[in-house]
Amino acid sequence: PLLETIINLNDFEQAFNKFGAQKANAYISGASNDLLTLNANKSYWQKLWFRPRIMRNVSTINTEMTMLGQKVKMPVWICPMGIAKVAGPEGETALAAGAAASGIIHCTSVTASYGLEDILAAAPNNPFFYQLYVDKQRHKSEEILKKIEMHNQIKALFVTVDLAVVSKREADERIRTQEVTSLYLSGEKNKVDKKGGGLARTTGSFIDWALSWDDLAWLRKHTKLPIVVKGIQSAADAKLAMQLGCQGIVVSNHGGRALDNAPATILVLLEMRRDCPEVFEKIEVFVDGGVRRGSDILKAVCLGARGVGVGRPFQCSVMYNKEGVESCAEILQDELETAMRLCGVTNLEKARGDMSYLNTSEIE
Ligand code: FNR
Repeated sequence: PLLETIINLNDFEQAFNKFGAQKANAYISGASNDLLTLNANKSYWQKLWFRPRIMRNVSTINTEMTMLGQKVKMPVWICPMGIAKVAGPEGETALAAGAAASGIIHCTSVTASYGLEDILAAAPNNPFFYQLYVDKQRHKSEEILKKIEMHNQIKALFVTVDLAVVSKREADERIRTQEVTSLYLSGEKNKVDKKGGGLARTTGSFIDWALSWDDLAWLRKHTKLPIVVKGIQSAADAKLAMQLGCQGIVVSNHGGRALDNAPATILVLLEMRRDCPEVFEKIEVFVDGGVRRGSDILKAVCLGARGVGVGRPFQCSVMYNKEGVESCAEILQDELETAMRLCGVTNLEKARGDMSYLNTSEIE
């Protein structure tokens, strides 16, 4: 479909679903096992209702926020996603350039398909975040940390901790079964990968499953950047991350691509508000998973988050190159502004943590 006919973020995913390559689509849209967490992430945003206030003169509003010291037009970062070239030839360079044009930030993945220099050069005046999976061969991660410190565009290190092992992605594996069949038919069955050769498993096998909280000290020794732990799924771990000196956390279950039946990220935010409300003030709290509407951004901020990550819709928008990414952000910005006006919120930063705008009765 023409980019001009795309009016919301789901449209981007549907367009890719229909016109993207089958293997790329299985990789991007897929999640673990029965997709329970994938679907819960989305549906729980929909179960959180507003408590709108009226007659507040919403002629001018402010959607800006500061995330890890960086001023953004709206509190959105594009999630780190591996091998973005599978979605379109411009890959991560489209994500970087689109983010810069929209006043938001791209968190680039260690498993990116473009080299870091090319990605940074696509948005030479914009800040970036950098996402790391810790490698079983620690010296490799140390080299990466040394390299990213030389680029002053990179403002924070996101360390992903929710994927000690790559989960079972059945959409990926079904494609593999087709490939296996054709390998057998062509007499090349020695090429069959017994462990499941889906894209996710083959790109994630280097991740260190021995990673533990003690390793934060090792990370600190090798970087001066703010450290953000991505993949917090309980109030207890949110508190630990704060106590151990992280600058931020991302409440995330990897978009349902790690443990299936992990709780929807909103449920974790609510648990944190109950069990460790101080975390929202002492460090920066971010959330991702199933954010598809500008109104979801407003909800996340009212819950106390300083920003949200949006994943799959941006990855799918790469099909339309930089213009697609920009359009995806523009839709979110427009929906956010509309939601704020209709809810009576004129300043997003001031509404942070203000639960009076939310009605949580359906999920508590
Ligand atoms: C991811 N995610 C991810 N996370 C990460 O820390 N490093 C990575 O390399 C990747 N790769 C990746 C690839 C693809 C195709 C997807 C869809 C996701 C997880 C990602 O950062 C984020 O947590 C979720 O995508 C957020 O959920 P939504 O917005 O996609 O629902």
